[in-house]
Amino acid sequence: MSAASSAHPASITSCPDGPLIVRGELALFDDQGEAVMPNRRTFALCRCGASAIRPFCDGSHKLVGFRTTPPPRTAAVTFDEPAPSTLNAE
Ligand code: FES
Repeated sequence: MSAASSAHPASITSCPDGPLIVRGELALFDDQGEAVMPNRRTFALCRCGASAIRPFCDGSHKLVGFRTTPPPRTAAVTFDEPAPSTLNAE
């Protein structure tokens, strides 16, 4: 084990608009407490909910347009009200 890997035995990195990438050795359990074996040291966990192989990512996040960042806020639309002096001017 290298010095870098012993300092960070496992890491989780969020991908923009995609899964969580897990690197390193860690235990993963399902909701029944059963160990889920990814069979590799690096794997992706779904966070969009669309994967057919949950808890792992199968790439479906691209098909469903999953976004991890909110859309940009739009500017408020305001309408100028006519000045009171212009109302009923005729
Ligand atoms: S994050 Fe990839 S399928 Fe859900």
